[in-house]
Amino acid sequence: MTTRFLAATFTAAATAALLATSHAAFAQASGKIKVGLMLPATGTFAALGTAIENGFRLHVAERGGKLGGREIEFVRVDDESDPAKATDNVNKLVKRDNVDVLVGTVHSGVAMAMARVAKETGTLLIVPNAGADAVTGPMCAANIFRSSFSNWQPGYAMGDVVAKKGHKKVVTITWKYAAGDESVKGFKEAFEKAGGTVVKELSLPFPNVEFQALLTEIAATKPDAVYTFFAGGGAVKFVKDYAAAGLKKNILLYGAGFLTDGTLEAQGADAEGLLTTLHYADSLGTPRDSAFRLAYAKSYKLQPDVYAVQGYDAAQMLAVGLEAVKGDISKKAEFAAALQKAKIDSPRGAFSLSKSNNPVQDIYLRQVSGKENKVVGIAAKALTDPGRGCRL
Ligand code: PHB
Repeated sequence: MTTRFLAATFTAAATAALLATSHAAFAQASGKIKVGLMLPATGTFAALGTAIENGFRLHVAERGGKLGGREIEFVRVDDESDPAKATDNVNKLVKRDNVDVLVGTVHSGVAMAMARVAKETGTLLIVPNAGADAVTGPMCAANIFRSSFSNWQPGYAMGDVVAKKGHKKVVTITWKYAAGDESVKGFKEAFEKAGGTVVKELSLPFPNVEFQALLTEIAATKPDAVYTFFAGGGAVKFVKDYAAAGLKKNILLYGAGFLTDGTLEAQGADAEGLLTTLHYADSLGTPRDSAFRLAYAKSYKLQPDVYAVQGYDAAQMLAVGLEAVKGDISKKAEFAAALQKAKIDSPRGAFSLSKSNNPVQDIYLRQVSGKENKVVGIAAKALTDPGRGCRL
């Protein structure tokens, strides 16, 4: 009697436990995937955040709202491109909203805070812009991926281009923060290896746009050329101020392609002819890119830019990972292994990920012509960020 009672109790408990387990597994693989979008909705990078979100949503919509069989739900935070608020913002998404995956952001300083929390908590993170070298360098992790670039990549590619043009003395100018510093560092590495000299490194705090005193200093220094990293609203003003100061005619201006991406409407004739390096351009003309551009323009009544592509590819990367684990996002090792093996069918051209999860990609040399960044060549083929300091 007692034995039978115990057996019956055991069976009931075991059944309940089994039911609970399978219920959890079912919920895990069938409920919605919560994507925490942490992007700037205000400030100098606001338009960049919008383009990234548009691109991400476009790819999700193309798949009927589901990735790996699971519906996608968004939770959004405006990070204001403010590193001082970044840890609180990302903790809200991870701890309060319990997101399954983080997608963000534009600003390198904010992205480093996201990477820190992602690493500590094991939350998946896909970075759809910020180039902070550390994210796929010393801070790299198996759960941290980038769909964009490292700050080193466009800078390094441009260093070679400017040296090959025969320029010997260059002044650099940028915002004083990780992205500006690292873009200049990449430029300098290639430029000086090829025999050039960076004679002066000018900077101002992010996101200031009081360029006048620095432009006067450039005029007085008389370098052969200038290399710059600015983006968003700041890039619009820099290009206009450079021309207004009368420098454009005398000292060639080169930049990481953010200088003229998503900004040409506002820069007008002041941007005409500028040469920049980037992993995207407006005139690729491949069937893949043309289809993407058409779909984007139809959905948003806007022309896409590099930020839209990076957002779109972040969704493609999430799709690859989720498909490999059949929607069970708790299988992080399999998710990561699938991305390590994947070729992402990007509008920029297909890319794979380096060991530290940064895109291995061609860097185009582009020239502004009218309202487009036209390809004039490939500055660096299949450029791989060295991933310095990454141990994976
Ligand atoms: C960055 O902070 O890493 C950053 C911001 C804007 C860009 C590119 C890089 O366009």
